Amino acid sequence: MPGIFDLIVRGGICVTPAGCERADVGARDGRIAEIGDLAGSCAEVELDAGGLHVLPGVIDSHVHFREPGGEQKEDLATGSAAAVLGGVTAVFEMPNTAPSTVSAAGLADKCRRAKGRVRCDIAFFVGATDENLAQLGELERQPACAGVKIFMGSSTGSLLIEDDATLAAVLGNGRRRAMVHAEDESRLRARKSMLTEAAGPAGHTAWRDAETAVTAVRRLVVMARATGRPVHIAHASTVDEMDYLSQHRDIATVEVTPHHLLLTAPEIYERIGNRALVNPPIREQADVDALWQAVRQGLVDTIGSDHAPHTADEKAGRYPGAPSGMPGVQTLVPLLLDQVNAGRLSLERFADLTAAGPARVFGIAGKGRIAVGYDADLTLADMKAERTISTRWIVSRCGWTPFDGTRVRGWPMATVVRGHIVAREGQLIGDPIGTAVRFLDTF
Ligand code: DOR
Ligand code: ZN
Repeated sequence: MPGIFDLIVRGGICVTPAGCERADVGARDGRIAEIGDLAGSCAEVELDAGGLHVLPGVIDSHVHFREPGGEQKEDLATGSAAAVLGGVTAVFEMPNTAPSTVSAAGLADKCRRAKGRVRCDIAFFVGATDENLAQLGELERQPACAGVKIFMGSSTGSLLIEDDATLAAVLGNGRRRAMVHAEDESRLRARKSMLTEAAGPAGHTAWRDAETAVTAVRRLVVMARATGRPVHIAHASTVDEMDYLSQHRDIATVEVTPHHLLLTAPEIYERIGNRALVNPPIREQADVDALWQAVRQGLVDTIGSDHAPHTADEKAGRYPGAPSGMPGVQTLVPLLLDQVNAGRLSLERFADLTAAGPARVFGIAGKGRIAVGYDADLTLADMKAERTISTRWIVSRCGWTPFDGTRVRGWPMATVVRGHIVAREGQLIGDPIGTAVRFLDTF
């Protein structure tokens, strides 16, 4: 019987649970209603995906959108516009805003701000502090909460959980997988004298070294085991972390970022100076190779952009004054599709890392694959399109990208969120319709 749909995406090669196959996708009331040959069916809106790949909507589970308090860098409207133009259908936003998101009121405020202004779906992390730790179990169950974020080393903002006792108390409150920035604060502080203008930005990699990261990861896994709390290691960046984490797969899942996979020290500092500053820092080739090995071997669960915009002016200061972080939500998909074309990962593995992986790690309800009954979130990619990433294309308010001038093959051509086309061929479509990501109750 011919069906009537709100949207049919016709003729693409879909990455579905059945494999990579040519199929139409029909959406009704925001969900995928049918996958297959829909030649006899019609829809209010038809999207021709001939020659394109249809991927499960890309979920970037690590972005900093800076609202409230840092709107000169980004806000929820500009950050989510960058997301959908880059093929991203949902984001998890970080709590190191000003003020930090550390309470039910803070989460509710972000939800209010998001309404009618965000173009992709969204959830917000709540930051752990020594003052809110007793409430974290309750806070992580608030609507639109992605879970708890713990900073073990200080970075942008003031969130910090420094000692093991506080870390254990944080992990002991709540059940959902906690997202952790694992850099050891005491080692950072002890070695702060290395941070000099003479060392320049390249000194950043030496200061926040591999030992800083793996020390924190080891402390974290011990505490995770002691409390029975699963953790997600944000932006793992070193061979040492990967070696250690390969022994702890039952309790710790792993995120890597495109910038740690694709940029190397010290070259990047010579090329873009302070703009390359990020925590944890860009590493040398041996670490980069280990990250790719971890992607290949299945040790990595998710790829998140760690989109952390700062303005060009803020970055223009002298090291060590300039802030750490670089934008990435708009470039994640093209950069990784290019790596698919280069043979470094399959398209199925790309979908695993950017959709099924985040869904599995965070217990997302109804997103993460192209399946009947799931949200109709789709990223349409032209695997043959060759483009050069350029600052002109970037709509993030910071207005720059560390990948300016990078030639890629593979490009996001259209973005569909719950059956609505929200971006197509570089244009934003319609009013912002983003809403809260939902999570499984059992998490
Ligand atoms: O480099 C970073 N920038 N690392 C972080 O952990 C925070 C981020 C930011 O918010 O700027
Ligand atoms: Zn981050």
